[in-house]
Amino acid sequence: MQKQCAKLLRAKLARNDEFYTQYADVESECDHYRSHFLNKCIYCNCDTADSAFVKYFTKLKSQGLIRDVWFSGGLGGTDFRSPQAIELLQRADVVVTNPPFSLFRDFMDLLIEYQKPFLVIGNKNAIAQRKVFDLVKRNKIWPGVRRWAGGMRFIVPDDADTKEVPAIWLTNLPHSHRPLPIPLSVSYNPKLFPNYDNADAINVNRTADIPFDYDGIMGVPISFIERYNPAQFEILGLDKDFTSDTAACSVLGQRIYTRVFIRKRLAN
Ligand SMILES: C[S@@+](CC[C@H](N)C(=O)[O-])C[C@H]1O[C@@H](n2cnc3c(N)ncnc32)[C@H](O)[C@@H]1O
Repeated sequence: MQKQCAKLLRAKLARNDEFYTQYADVESECDHYRSHFLNKCIYCNCDTADSAFVKYFTKLKSQGLIRDVWFSGGLGGTDFRSPQAIELLQRADVVVTNPPFSLFRDFMDLLIEYQKPFLVIGNKNAIAQRKVFDLVKRNKIWPGVRRWAGGMRFIVPDDADTKEVPAIWLTNLPHSHRPLPIPLSVSYNPKLFPNYDNADAINVNRTADIPFDYDGIMGVPISFIERYNPAQFEILGLDKDFTSDTAACSVLGQRIYTRVFIRKRLAN
């Protein structure tokens, strides 16, 4: 029975991995990084020849703008964790792809281990994965140019319609659309921003409502990361790093979905 469940779960995860990125989405994001791709070797390590990523970089290659594009051949091709793929990873200049959702953690571990420049698609919640989060916190990786609202639509096999996923771009390549400081207009009020039961911080449900006159620690939703300006705020950690019971935060006994703990940087 347990074996059966594990098999079903694996099949479900594998199905969830087969989301294909639309060409227009690849182009509109990647065009912002052309200077980083110039004369470089790009590795699309979760892609077949007909992936939008491979098509985009093949076009750039034919225009003499990149040195080469390599790809893995997708499922049944080279596993991105295999020694051959890791050798290519080391030789390539930039990794650009939409990796399988179920292996996102392993995928990022490799990019981090080999300190590769990258531009990838991930689920919004992947930001809360420990290693990814620690790098976001230290301003070593950041969201891409595309806004998060509305998610992204992907091509799904055997489905006429595209499917919306709360997917975002993540990168360590500098781009010119890093967020400006968030204009803050709401004043602190303990009724609107209650303290957590299990952490010494106040709860803020919407990034736009962060009080301008509160200098203590605040818990904000993951979507704060989209607007994170490191000169304006300091990221302190994830909720579980701060709660007395290492669980999610709660307010008056009610559990609250993942929170990022932040503090305003004070003007010196
Ligand atoms: C989310 S899909 C995206 C495909 C393509 N990158 C795109 O954006 O259209 C992830 C792809 O990775 C492939 N894949 C799954 N496991 C893999 C592995 N271990 N190594 C390389 N590719 C893998 C899947 O077959 C799938 O095609």
